[in-house]
Amino acid sequence: METKLILAPMQGLCDDVMRDLLTRIGGFDECVSEFVRITHTVHSRSTWLRHVPEIATHNRTFAGTPCTVQILGSDANMMAINALEAVRFGANKIDVNFGCPAPTVNKHKGGAILLQEPDLVYQIVKTLRDRLPEHIPLTAKMRLGYENKDLALENAQAIAAGGAAVLTVHARTKVEGYEPPAHWAWVRKIQQVIDIPVVANGDVFTLDDFIGIRRESGCEHIMLGRGAVMRPDLARQIRQFERGETIQIAEFNHEIMNWIRLFFDLCMAKESNNKYPVARLKQWLGMMKKVYPEATQLFDKIRILKESEQVHTVLQDFQAA
Ligand SMILES: Cc1cc2nc3c(=O)[nH]c(=O)nc-3n(C[C@H](O)[C@H](O)[C@H](O)COP(=O)(O)O)c2cc1C
Repeated sequence: METKLILAPMQGLCDDVMRDLLTRIGGFDECVSEFVRITHTVHSRSTWLRHVPEIATHNRTFAGTPCTVQILGSDANMMAINALEAVRFGANKIDVNFGCPAPTVNKHKGGAILLQEPDLVYQIVKTLRDRLPEHIPLTAKMRLGYENKDLALENAQAIAAGGAAVLTVHARTKVEGYEPPAHWAWVRKIQQVIDIPVVANGDVFTLDDFIGIRRESGCEHIMLGRGAVMRPDLARQIRQFERGETIQIAEFNHEIMNWIRLFFDLCMAKESNNKYPVARLKQWLGMMKKVYPEATQLFDKIRILKESEQVHTVLQDFQAA
């Protein structure tokens, strides 16, 4: 079985433009939207399309990569009502978030805090599974726990028993935040107690990390988060490795600069009348600085700029230099 590589949902970081860009670069089999929070209201079509524009294009990114809609909440009934609406507007796969560590979200009983209540986790998954049409796959994503890992297996079993088709495990607890290490061996323990496929996730920043997570988790399928943003050709490298092809490593001044300029153009096409394109580019370069020294140089050149036109010129000059 060929590994499935999935681009992680990342609120505020991996929006539709970033998903578009990264899936164009290649290597990904699927991506997942940022979470859409479900409270006491029923979202309109325009809300769904704002969060997940791919719904309007057969749930695929420009490159044709399938995109799953992720929801987050704690009221099983409202989640089902909203998920059904998303499906009515075109969504064809729903993922449930049991991992978000954000205090505001947890305060309203959403995300990782639910991992303290496996019964509720079960009820949410079961309700969604019962109410969604059979042909709509339902998946879930969890952390290893909230404060500790005591309930990790129980939660995974609750998700499987509730009827999820696939479970992604971000191999850390809520209190571990994003601190390394991710506990890849725990994902193996989870896979051993449930019979649905488990996707391993956490701290894959390089091809070697990919080889490590595969070995330690025993999972076929891997989700890439921050590493895919920091090293935009990571999934492509992994795919080429898996296929025994020559691994093509992107050079900053060639491919990566082209992607940066494309990303900026795509951001401009989405929202040109506000800070969005410049802010998104700074955020991305800020992450790429950890991998590419050139990203630091470029970041320093645009750091104080606010106008898109100025940034556009800097990008052009930087690549030409
Ligand atoms: C900025 C940011 C936003 C995130 N937003 C979401 C989200 O909306 N839904 C979700 O399930 N996980 C979210 N996550 C968690 C990631 O999907 C992933 O599980 C985590 O980053 C670990 O993978 P990594 O080490 O490869 O980054 C987010 C992570 C980051 C860094």
